[in-house]
Amino acid sequence: MTDPKPSTNDIFAKIRAKAAASAAPESAVNPEAQPAVSAETAPLESGTPVAAPRSTADIMAAARAKAKPADDAQPAAAKPGSTSDILAAAKKPAGSAPAGSAAPKSPADIMASIRAKAGAAPAAATQAGESVLGAAAPAAKIDPSKAAGLSAAEMIKAARTKTDGTPVVPAKPKIALPSKPLPGKSAAAKAKPEVGRRSMLTIMVGAVCTWVVLAWSSMIAASIVSLLATARFMMPNVLVEPPTKFKIGPPNDYAPGTVSTKWQAQFNIWVVNAEVDGSPVIYALSTVCTHLGCTPNWLEGEQKFKCPCHGSGFYKSGVNFEGPAPRPLERVGLRLAEDGMLEVDKSVKFQKELGQWANSSSFVGVT
Ligand code: FES
Repeated sequence: MTDPKPSTNDIFAKIRAKAAASAAPESAVNPEAQPAVSAETAPLESGTPVAAPRSTADIMAAARAKAKPADDAQPAAAKPGSTSDILAAAKKPAGSAPAGSAAPKSPADIMASIRAKAGAAPAAATQAGESVLGAAAPAAKIDPSKAAGLSAAEMIKAARTKTDGTPVVPAKPKIALPSKPLPGKSAAAKAKPEVGRRSMLTIMVGAVCTWVVLAWSSMIAASIVSLLATARFMMPNVLVEPPTKFKIGPPNDYAPGTVSTKWQAQFNIWVVNAEVDGSPVIYALSTVCTHLGCTPNWLEGEQKFKCPCHGSGFYKSGVNFEGPAPRPLERVGLRLAEDGMLEVDKSVKFQKELGQWANSSSFVGVT
């Protein structure tokens, strides 16, 4: 007798039993993970509580998982799900990598090598070049076979190079300039020549005041002074002295019996109106002491000339009477001019000891 065709319930019961048998070791390792037993999930043939799929979808999923070959799930798990997964997988130690491949140096290198292996290197290089140089910059295509060993910097450099080898120059940003200069800037531009002139003046003043210019100026001034001194030395010395002949006024200006010191400072003479041998005369005495040349003073109270140097004393007539003076004072020439004025001539001297006072040119008689 042949077995009747199993029903759907029988098929499900068998599957549940197999699933319970496969789940038993896991529940032994982790008792907490054992699912609760219900009447729906309990096995039909045996009374032992085992874990079973809850629904038909779970059962189908488990059946499909078993029906698939074991090696089918492995590549799916090995596929890089995201960038972090790719980096984690690539950053594994060199021992786990295939023999002959070097460990990546940086995340950019890792990405480049992985993308090169995956055949995505040209697209990545193109995108990098476009992002750096802009869409208008024509970048060279990178050979996928060569991109595997390039770093990120080298890939960017290759992207910046044109196909003919010339570097790609990035387009410079255009700066919008105003069509007309601003009022403030135009005023500043007009003020620039003023500043230039001031600075030039400052430079010129500074150049004039330098030590070199001062030294040359001093030397030139000293040379000019030396030349003038030499010219003056070549000329004869001329003494500017008062004239030897001069008029001292009419005889009436000199009262009888008086000594006038009016011309002492200017002409170094005294004018005396006195009687000589019983006759009133006017004569002029030199103010030079006959001792050593000092200037005596007229003492009106003592009616004498007194020399302050050595004490020589002279009478009103000029005769010495005390002190070291060896001889009387000297008279100078005097005459009555045509205009009635007394005229003195100092170029002529008259000495008493020589008998010269008797000369009519040494006095003027008063009537
Ligand atoms: Fe007049 Fe000597 S100079 S007393």
